[in-house]
Amino acid sequence: MTKYHAPKGVQDIYPPDIYLWQNVENVAKEVFSAYGFQELRAPIFEMTDVFTRSIGEDTDIVEKEMYTFTDKARRSITLRPEGTAPVVRCYVENRLYNLPSPQKFYYSGPMFRYERPQKGRFRQFYQIGVEALGTSDPKLDAEILIMLRVFFERLGLKELSYEVNSIGCEKCRPDYKKVLLNFFSGRIEGFCPDCKRRYEHNPLRILDCKVEACIKLRAGSPKMMDFICSDCRAHFESFLELLRLADFQYVINPSMVRGLDYYTRTAFEVTSKRLGAQNAVAAGGRYDRLVEEFGGPPTPAIGFAIGMERIVELLKTGNPQIPAPEIFIATIGAPAEKEGLVIASKLREKGMWVELGYAGQSLKSQMRRADRLSAKYALIIGDDEIRSGKLNWKRLSDGTQGEIPINEVLNFFKASS
Ligand code: HAM
Repeated sequence: MTKYHAPKGVQDIYPPDIYLWQNVENVAKEVFSAYGFQELRAPIFEMTDVFTRSIGEDTDIVEKEMYTFTDKARRSITLRPEGTAPVVRCYVENRLYNLPSPQKFYYSGPMFRYERPQKGRFRQFYQIGVEALGTSDPKLDAEILIMLRVFFERLGLKELSYEVNSIGCEKCRPDYKKVLLNFFSGRIEGFCPDCKRRYEHNPLRILDCKVEACIKLRAGSPKMMDFICSDCRAHFESFLELLRLADFQYVINPSMVRGLDYYTRTAFEVTSKRLGAQNAVAAGGRYDRLVEEFGGPPTPAIGFAIGMERIVELLKTGNPQIPAPEIFIATIGAPAEKEGLVIASKLREKGMWVELGYAGQSLKSQMRRADRLSAKYALIIGDDEIRSGKLNWKRLSDGTQGEIPINEVLNFFKASS
C-alpha cells in the first residue's frame, strides 16, 4: 500500500497545539483592534509580478524560493511568500487611498517559501501581519513597535530583543551604494556566484548573503546609518525618542538589512535567544515607495509580520493551559445511554463541553477516556439511577462524589462551572 506523507517542510497543526495557535490569533486580534487595525483577507495566490517587482528580483525569495506555476490559461501565478505586497496591491486596486489616512489592516494565514527546512523554518508557514498606509509620521513607527511589545507581553513573552535600524530612502541610498561598491570592488573574486551578480545589480543584497565566504568578505563594510540623509536621520531620531518616552528597550543594529527590497527608513526585527538559528519572531519596517510602485499615489507605509510557528514554539515551553470537557457522561445499558444523550443535549445548549460514552465501552474504559480528556466531572448513569431518578457525580481532580436528582443536573453544573 502507498504510504502517504505530507510534503517536506510543511506541518499539520492539531490538538493540543491548535489551542496555542488559537490563543495567539485571539490575542493578536484583541491587541491590534485596540490600535484600530481591521482585518483584510487577500488571496493566497497572486499574479507573479506582484511579488517579483516589490520584493525585488535579486532577493533570495524571488530568485530561489517562490512557488510559481503556470495556470490553465498560461498565466504565471505565485503562492504568496509574504503578505505586504498583496495588501498593497489590494489597497491600490480598490483605491482604498481615497479613504481617510492612515488605513490600518491586519491579516493572518499561510505563506509559502521554498527554503531549506530546518527548526523554525518551513515551506508553508503562518504569519500574522499588520500594514498601516498613509503617513510618514514617526509616531506611527513607534506605535507599531509598542503594539508589538504589548502583543508579546500579553502572551507572556518578555525576554525578546527589539532591534531597530534606518536603511535610508531613495535619496540617500544611491550614495551609500557607491560607497559599498567601492568597498567591495577589490573583493569580488571571492564572492559566491549570486553575490557576483548582486554586485552588478543590487550590491545591498550582498549584506544579506548567508554564504560563509561572503560574510567574511563583507566584515567591516560601511554602514547605511552613517550615510542616511538629514531627513532620514531626523525621522529615525524622532522615532527613537518616542520609544524612549514609552520606556521601550531597543537595540540599534546598524548591520540589519532586511531580505526584501521594498524597505525604506525604519527597519526592525524582534528576536529570541531561546530559538536557535531561526531566531526572528517578527520583523518589518517602512516601505514608503511601494504604493507608488504599484501605481497608487505617494503613500508612505509601515508594517510587520509575526512568525506563528516560532511564537508557538516559545509558548510550548511555558506549561500552556489546554481546554478540557466540563462533564463526561458515562452510561451503562441502553436506557441509560438514551437518558445520557438527553442530559448532554440540555447541558450543551448552555454552552458546556460534554462528552459521552459510546456503545460497547465498559464503565472502566469510559472513565479512562474521561481521565485522558481531563474532564472536570463524570456523571454516571445505569439502570439503578434511571429507576431512582438520582445520578452519581464525581469530581475527577480530587475524587469527591455525590448524588443529584436528574432534574437538578442543569442547576448543579451551572453553579459549579
Ligand atoms: P520576513 O522577515 O520575511 O518579513 O518574515 C517575517 C517573519 O516571518 C520572520 O521574522 C519569521 O518569524 C517568519 N518567517 C519567515 N520565513 C519563515 C519560514 N520559512 N518559516 C517560518 N517562519 C518564517 C515579511 O514577510 C514582511 N512581509 C514583513 C512586513 C510586513 N514588512 C512590512 N510589513
